[in-house]
Amino acid sequence: IKIKITDREGVTHEVDAPTDMNMNLMEVVRSYELAPEGTIGVCGGMAMCASCQCYVKSDHVLPEMSDDEDAMLAEAFNVEDNSRLGCQIHMTEDLDGLEVELAPES
Ligand code: FES
Repeated sequence: IKIKITDREGVTHEVDAPTDMNMNLMEVVRSYELAPEGTIGVCGGMAMCASCQCYVKSDHVLPEMSDDEDAMLAEAFNVEDNSRLGCQIHMTEDLDGLEVELAPES
């Protein structure tokens, strides 16, 4: 699928994200090096750091938040109504065209 990711410098990248590798959005960002090493995915995708927070710009319906994701976002900085943790968003066909922006580093 193709997704658009706006990095922390405000540059938007359209990237190919595989749906058959069980990848999440945080891993896609890392694989394209759209954020410096150590500034995203700090907890390894456990919903425990919020370094992968992103704002969902398109109107895709995403899977419900888990209690862990909800709790982490309740403590994170710069949280908006459309905030999600990238590591909790798995790449599936119905997310084709997804547009997200990385939240500022905190
Ligand atoms: Fe830590 Fe997503 S990588 S919460």
